Amino acid sequence: MEKTFFIIKPDGVRRALIGQVIDRMEHRGFVIENLLMCQVTKDLLAQHYEALVDRPFYPSIEAYMMSGPVVIGVLTGADVIQSWRKMMGATNPTDALPGTIRGDFAHGAEGASIENIVHGSDSPESAAREIALWFGHD
Ligand code: CDP
Ligand code: MG
Repeated sequence: MEKTFFIIKPDGVRRALIGQVIDRMEHRGFVIENLLMCQVTKDLLAQHYEALVDRPFYPSIEAYMMSGPVVIGVLTGADVIQSWRKMMGATNPTDALPGTIRGDFAHGAEGASIENIVHGSDSPESAAREIALWFGHD
């Protein structure tokens, strides 16, 4: 069984969408293997987004991701990495299709960062790295 790492980002928690996001995972048949609410630290976030830290817009991503508590977890299931990415929808909610989490619960923002409710690992390598980073084991 494949595993992926997910985050319900501060906007998802603030807008009381934890239940609806978890509901979609469970309805789909994925198993929640680990679940935790926490406050992201600068250092951990920089490691998580190592590919984005040097981008000019990284400070706005940092401000967004540290603006409140997040829910982190590990999801298990067949082809869960790509399936969860499809359920999330496109990065920019403006492009996300209706039926996806980002397409149903977010919209194109005017602000500097793209607030899009959820995160999901984008490959088996990222999933293993992110699970180890956030939970200390894989
Ligand atoms: O989350 P996803 O894998 O779809 O996108 P990413 O390219 O890995 O970017 C990570 C996160 O950074 C996005 O989900 C956005 O919240 C944020 N981001 C942003 O605010 N502005 C951008 N131009 C790119 C990403
Ligand atoms: Mg990504």
